[in-house]
Amino acid sequence: MRADLERIRQAALADLERCEDEAALDQTRLRYLGRKGELTAVLRGMREVAAAERPAMGELANAVKTAVEERLGALRRRLADARQAKSLAEERLDVTLPGIRSAHGHLHPLTQVLDQITSIFAEMGFGVETGPEVEDDYHNFEALNIPRDHPARDMHDTFFVAEDRVLRTHTSPVQIRVMESRQPPLRVIAPGVVYRHDDDVTHSPNFLQVEGFFVDEAVTFGDLKGVLSEFVHAFFGPRIPLRFRPSFFPFTEPSAEVDIGCVMCAASGVLPDGSPCRVCKRSGWLEILGSGMIDPNVFRFVGYDPEKFSGFAFGLGVERLAMLKHGIGDIRLFYENDLRFLRQF
Ligand code: FA5
Repeated sequence: MRADLERIRQAALADLERCEDEAALDQTRLRYLGRKGELTAVLRGMREVAAAERPAMGELANAVKTAVEERLGALRRRLADARQAKSLAEERLDVTLPGIRSAHGHLHPLTQVLDQITSIFAEMGFGVETGPEVEDDYHNFEALNIPRDHPARDMHDTFFVAEDRVLRTHTSPVQIRVMESRQPPLRVIAPGVVYRHDDDVTHSPNFLQVEGFFVDEAVTFGDLKGVLSEFVHAFFGPRIPLRFRPSFFPFTEPSAEVDIGCVMCAASGVLPDGSPCRVCKRSGWLEILGSGMIDPNVFRFVGYDPEKFSGFAFGLGVERLAMLKHGIGDIRLFYENDLRFLRQF
């Protein structure tokens, strides 16, 4: 039996060394240590060994078994290590390679300009309010001192939704809604989309306005000039020339439009090549907003005492400001979503 055990030890260890993968190791284990394995068979025969020899034989058999199991374990670990080393080598990552950039969007140029306008007025203490885009006749016209059949209604080419409902033609109805629900002092801007039946290179059927109004006791035209001059200089830079030109709006009296020096021809009316500037029609000036002192009639509509309160209001076209700031000749570019255009901002 001793000889059998020694032979099994030699054979098992030699077979293990020849194994090239884990399947082969398993087979070898079965061949010697499995239920029908050679070593197992020898151990079963232990009963026939003389009692005196049994302890020594048992010890030897255990030693053989342990030796085979240990070698098997060591070879398994070696195979596992080799497998891991191989996969690490194959899946190696070069962490110094530049990554793939993800595409970033950005705010639409009109949103950028709107944000800029809002923050300039916020610094002067104006808060933001909004109103409905589908408006009733009363807030869009009537309470703004534009009665039915008044010729001033022709200034706006109105889209009607129903007999008494319009797509708001300007943001001025927000003045009425705010004044109906709050008492002065008020310092408010109201940005939003408005609609008119208008469509050419400088007019869009839907466009953005920012309304602004300031109501308190003893507000003067000087305050209007101060606030609007401050805004124009903050938006276009301190050197831009501006002027207040008398105008008419039914809801303000007196009224003024604000012009800035034409940015295309440096306010000269003539382009560098000597040709006349078509943007300002050679005048050197461009209109950017309408404004005025709020008409006492408007105060009466909202229940304010015109003897006690005064205020100014203004409305500016956001696309117009964006076009002048960025030298854009066609308003429709803002609404075509052409990425070649949008990516420039
Ligand atoms: C008004 O809408 C007045 N509500 C402004 C106002 C408010 C005056 C408060 C006094 C007090 P106007 O129709 O001029 O005014 O329009 C104001 C600005 O909107 C214009 O200066 C122009 O920049 C812009 N605008 C007008 N129509 C269009 C259009 N179809 N497309 C793009 N911008 C336009």
